[in-house]
Amino acid sequence: MPVEPARPGRPLPVRGSNQGLSMEPEERPAPRRALFCCAPLAAIVAAAALALLAACSDAGPAGPPPTDLAERLELQPLPAMPHPDDNPPDSAKVSLGRLLFFDPVLSGPKDVACATCHHPDFAMADGRELPVGPGGRGLGPAREQHDPSMLPEARNAPTLVNVGFNQFGAQFTASGFMFWDGRARSLERLTVLPLLEEDEMRGNAYPVQVAVDSALERLREIPEYVQRFREAYPGRAARADSGELDSAVDSLAYARAVAQFVRSLRGDDSPYDRFVAGDPDALTAAQKRGLELFHGKAGCAECHSGPMLSDFQFHVVGAEQQGPGFRFTPHQDLGRWNVTELEEDRWAFRTPSLRNVAVTAPYTHAGAYDSLRAAVELFLDGGGDHAAIPAGRLDPELEPVELGDRGISDLVAFLESLTDVPEVRVPDSVPSGLPPAGLHR
Ligand code: HEC
Ligand code: HEC
Repeated sequence: MPVEPARPGRPLPVRGSNQGLSMEPEERPAPRRALFCCAPLAAIVAAAALALLAACSDAGPAGPPPTDLAERLELQPLPAMPHPDDNPPDSAKVSLGRLLFFDPVLSGPKDVACATCHHPDFAMADGRELPVGPGGRGLGPAREQHDPSMLPEARNAPTLVNVGFNQFGAQFTASGFMFWDGRARSLERLTVLPLLEEDEMRGNAYPVQVAVDSALERLREIPEYVQRFREAYPGRAARADSGELDSAVDSLAYARAVAQFVRSLRGDDSPYDRFVAGDPDALTAAQKRGLELFHGKAGCAECHSGPMLSDFQFHVVGAEQQGPGFRFTPHQDLGRWNVTELEEDRWAFRTPSLRNVAVTAPYTHAGAYDSLRAAVELFLDGGGDHAAIPAGRLDPELEPVELGDRGISDLVAFLESLTDVPEVRVPDSVPSGLPPAGLHR
């Protein structure tokens, strides 16, 4: 879906306004109940077949080959990357998007780029509990705020690797849920939003209503960007030349290029992917035990299901809250409620993908858990006990499970098999001439 170019004077949502940045009339994706119902049946059938095989193998030499585990658990590979019809993949757009992604010229004070919080050194996240935006210096955990007037960020920065696969419920689509509360759908719609947020990129350089235009105006003054936009969008360049468009450098072209770069950040060749594809030796014995626990006794796959290891639904799991709080609720983040204002969505957050989870600590929406083991134990304990969340509000799928030390280690070992981070090179220079984010630090 194309992004509406921001028009000056059109009121845009401001931090603290009750509109939030919800981009869509909210529909609810169909829950995966049908699948949940069938799963036990399939498991019984599969178990019966296995028992039969085992009985046969008592007499014969060979047992079932190990990849039967992938079959029995019905593990699916990632599908082809979904692309919107009006923004097909294209190398000129991807390379333009990459330069924009690393160029601090898009931020109000020209000191923050997308890559400041989504950096290759930190698996396209920032390795911090909560990010530091405008006014900060340094990168990753070492970054520090130097401008006391700047608001702190409320939520943990997720990795962008595989974010192009984000789903709408069970559906792989180019308009999947983005953000911890799913308030944006599709990368094309998301990529202008960081430019608006005071604590992400806008700083206090200009008012929110003119933020996108101000950033675009800067790009229009840089000949290399104008040239690259024209090359990436020859049709739009022609329309700009004929006076039909104000400029070839507009928010729609910007959004499409950055979205295509983000979509190019894929990691689909982890040991887990190779195991799903049929290589029985891709996982260690401990990882296979962990995989069984993940789908069985530990109950993780109730929510962390499918090729992304997420159901892309919203659940109350009671992860510890910390930080300034989101929007109008100081020291609290009400999660999905910010979008729907439905009581059942209070404190509910989108199930995150667990791909690359071993290299993207700290964890959960406010980065409250430092280690993978600590995050896993939150769920094995049956969810968090944050004082703000009344009894009975935690997701019913969460129950305390006793796995013992070895079980927990196996589960963590399995999560470590989900790592595949693509190599992303920081550009040596960007068209603005400013230091690219994270090159000189
Ligand atoms: C100051 C830090 C910061 C900067 C700069 C920043 N982001 Fe983010 N990004 C975040 C945080 C924090 C979130 C999670 C916000 C939420 O869920 O409410 C996020 C979420 C995202 C997501 C959604 C990920 C998911 O799985 O839901 C995408 C995509 C994204 N950012 C892309 C970008 C792009 C593109 C830029 C530059 C135009 C950018 N970000 C700039 C901190 C930052
Ligand atoms: C009821 C659904 C549900 C179940 C069951 C569940 N999770 Fe989660 N998981 C979530 C949600 C929702 C979050 C995000 C919570 C937040 O940020 O506040 C999450 C977050 C996580 C994270 C942090 C990821 C990150 O990038 O920050 C890890 C790790 C994790 N879960 C592992 C597990 C494991 C292992 C199990 C099984 C023992 C499990 N989960 C069971 C829903 C679930």
